[in-house]
Amino acid sequence: MVDTNKRVFWHFTFKDILTILCSAAIPIALAIYTAIGSQQQKREAEKTRQFDLEQAEKLRQQTLYDEFINNIFKLDNYGYLKEKKNPWAFANAYYRAAHLEWDTIHKAYVLQFLKEKQLIGRNNCTNGCRTTNLDDIIRLNELSFDNVHLASQTGVLNQLDLECVSFDQVSMSDAVFSFASLNGVSFDGGRLDNVKFDGSSLLCASFNGVNLSGADFGNSNLTGAHFSNSDLSGAKITEDQINQASFDNVIRGVSR
Ligand SMILES: *[C@@H]1O[C@H](CO)[C@@H](O)[C@H](O)[C@H]1NC(C)=O
Ligand SMILES: *[C@@H]1O[C@H](CO)[C@@H](O)[C@H](O)[C@H]1NC(C)=O
Ligand SMILES: *[C@@H]1O[C@H](CO)[C@@H](O)[C@H](O)[C@H]1NC(C)=O
Repeated sequence: MVDTNKRVFWHFTFKDILTILCSAAIPIALAIYTAIGSQQQKREAEKTRQFDLEQAEKLRQQTLYDEFINNIFKLDNYGYLKEKKNPWAFANAYYRAAHLEWDTIHKAYVLQFLKEKQLIGRNNCTNGCRTTNLDDIIRLNELSFDNVHLASQTGVLNQLDLECVSFDQVSMSDAVFSFASLNGVSFDGGRLDNVKFDGSSLLCASFNGVNLSGADFGNSNLTGAHFSNSDLSGAKITEDQINQASFDNVIRGVSR
């Protein structure tokens, strides 16, 4: 009796289940499939959108950079960069507005362009210290260059020329200088925590009132460099480098 009931029960329920499955399975499967499909599509669409955005941003950066170069040539042609235009208010206002738009890669490109064009680092620092006294046409003060990477294209072969540039009051946290000639450069009043100087030349460079905590001077040449009123806590600086440079009122706690 129990057995029959069970079979009947099983029989009916199986039929029922079959019916339920047949009527419901397709929509359920469809729903699941659609859900998976649309999730995948969403992910794909999101990926595509992300890629498009990145491409668009790259293009925008390139366009901004090209426009900047063009406009600097125009400013030059119209005489806005002439000596008598000191303090070059228009050129500086334009540079500062453009600077806000650039990513770190283009900020570095622009610095190299400005140096090539002698709009920054105009003084002669070939032998280390400044031998002339010219103002930089483009002022970098109070701008952020955090995370910029300024590197020579040829490494040890040629140093990237950034001689005599006034990086006064700039923020250069985590910036990297690789094979750069920074002779006669001034970093006065700047924030350079965790900056890295690799294979660079810092002859006669000035660091007055600079936060250099965690800085790494690598194997750079610090002959004649002067550090005053600065925070060098946790900085990596060798005994040789300490002997090359001079120090005045600096926080050390130097790690070697
Ligand atoms: C830069 O200074 C050095 C040494 O004082 C000198 O030999 C060189 O001719 C100067 N270069 C320029 C471009 O003035
Ligand atoms: C220098 O910067 C570090 C890290 O940002 C900070 O902890 C430290 O207080 C700063 N030092 C000074 C003297 O402001
Ligand atoms: C550092 O530069 C000075 C001046 O150019 C040079 O005399 C000296 O040999 C250099 N030091 C090292 C370790 O390369």
